[in-house]
Amino acid sequence: MKTLPEIHEYWKVHCTCDLKATATQAVPGDGNAHAEVVFIGEAPGKKEDLEGRPFVGAAGKFLSEMLASINMKREDIYITNMVKYRPPNNRDPLPEEKEACKQWLHDELVAVQPKLIVFLGRIAMSNFFPTEKISAVHGKLLKKNIAGMPTEYFLPLYHPAAALYNGGLRQELLNDFQKIPLVLKNIAEK
Ligand code: URA
Repeated sequence: MKTLPEIHEYWKVHCTCDLKATATQAVPGDGNAHAEVVFIGEAPGKKEDLEGRPFVGAAGKFLSEMLASINMKREDIYITNMVKYRPPNNRDPLPEEKEACKQWLHDELVAVQPKLIVFLGRIAMSNFFPTEKISAVHGKLLKKNIAGMPTEYFLPLYHPAAALYNGGLRQELLNDFQKIPLVLKNIAEK
């Protein structure tokens, strides 16, 4: 099995995503290689594109605060994005851009073997649950057996960037986030 550094080195060369042409660099996932929880965001923003690390801007700061509220740190989790290159002006990634980055994400998930996958926003969720609506399922533990996936457990949350500028969503996200420790405990006991 390949290690995370090997996976990132391979895909930085072989990923066929068209966004490579406009992005500064690839933004691979980052964090604890043995994390129980993997968080999946959408795509890198401006700061991430410049630094080459995921969630280092305003959304990342908010995420770190939420992790602290459940006694977790960035070092405890693995965090990555659906798409590894910044879309121009932060537009939504196109289907073919998501498709081109899909195997990179899959390899990361297989390497980390998390117990729980947390989706940050609808773009990450729809890759695994194309018919669900984030407004209906946020904060609800979803169970699905997906071939090749290291876990059957998925928790969709609102995206921290969307929640930062919307008071209602922000409160929903804060409430949903508090469920993570109990969800993890319940999964461990199954
Ligand atoms: N938003 C994302 O979805 N990913 C990042 O890395 C930063 C902001």
